[in-house]
Amino acid sequence: MHFHLFRPEVLVFFIVLPRTFSKTLMSYPASSSDPASNLGYLNLEKTKGERPKANSADLYIKTATDPSGVPAAHFHRKKGYRRAEYHSLFYATEYDTTYYIGYQVMIRKIRHNLVIFQWKELVEQSTQLIPLNLEFSSEHNERILTFNHEAPNSHTRTTFWNRTLEDGVKYSIGMAIHTGTPGGEDGWAQLYWDGKPQKMLDGTHFINGTMVSSQADPKFGAYRAEEFEMDTYVYSVKIGTMSGDVKDVAGW
Ligand SMILES: *[C@@H]1O[C@H](CO)[C@@H](O)[C@H](O)[C@H]1NC(C)=O
Ligand SMILES: *[C@@H]1O[C@H](CO)[C@@H](O)[C@H](O)[C@H]1NC(C)=O
Repeated sequence: MHFHLFRPEVLVFFIVLPRTFSKTLMSYPASSSDPASNLGYLNLEKTKGERPKANSADLYIKTATDPSGVPAAHFHRKKGYRRAEYHSLFYATEYDTTYYIGYQVMIRKIRHNLVIFQWKELVEQSTQLIPLNLEFSSEHNERILTFNHEAPNSHTRTTFWNRTLEDGVKYSIGMAIHTGTPGGEDGWAQLYWDGKPQKMLDGTHFINGTMVSSQADPKFGAYRAEEFEMDTYVYSVKIGTMSGDVKDVAGW
């Protein structure tokens, strides 16, 4: 019998395979007409603490089109409302894992304090509430998007990167987030913009530090800037465990 399964090179193949096996964990192309609920868990908030479970005329996320007719999930909030987000990989991210994220989004009218992405801690929130976010937080110009990290027990976010955006333009955001060990310093994150690797303000291509204190998951949409009516359009979101899984969305 010519059974080669136990030849050393075949064994190596089987040992390596599970660690590198590519897996798309979430995929929402609006062009497929899939419901926006494919993005995960619907997370709406009117005024602080008032959390409806379903869409309404003044607060919704649904597969529709952008103003020029291109298929997109429309995230809508009326003035005074805080949150229209989808919480993806709901309580499902794991330690020591690298998540590759592609996110294509357009903001109808940019406003100061709008948050379009959160990597949010859900359990140890008094230690580290939002390890990473993309927020228009610059005092200088409301169109400056910043990429921020909150270290444990700092209760403040440090800006690592910024870029001036325009209203009504579709951007392709790519992120690689390595969870590392809970509370450990071995987490890291990288950012790509329209397919290009972004240098942080410190000159490196990494934010290094704690990315999870207990359970941290990605959230996409429109949070804060509640002083204004908000409309954002999401064309596609994809999350995988290999960069190639999300190449078509991240553009890298
Ligand atoms: C934005 O980043 C640039 C470097 O790319 C830096 O010189 C500038 O100070 C930053 N601006 C703000 C408002 O953070
Ligand atoms: C940040 O993390 C990356 C990935 O592990 C590593 O290559 C890099 O050397 C780290 N940077 C610092 C300053 O530790």
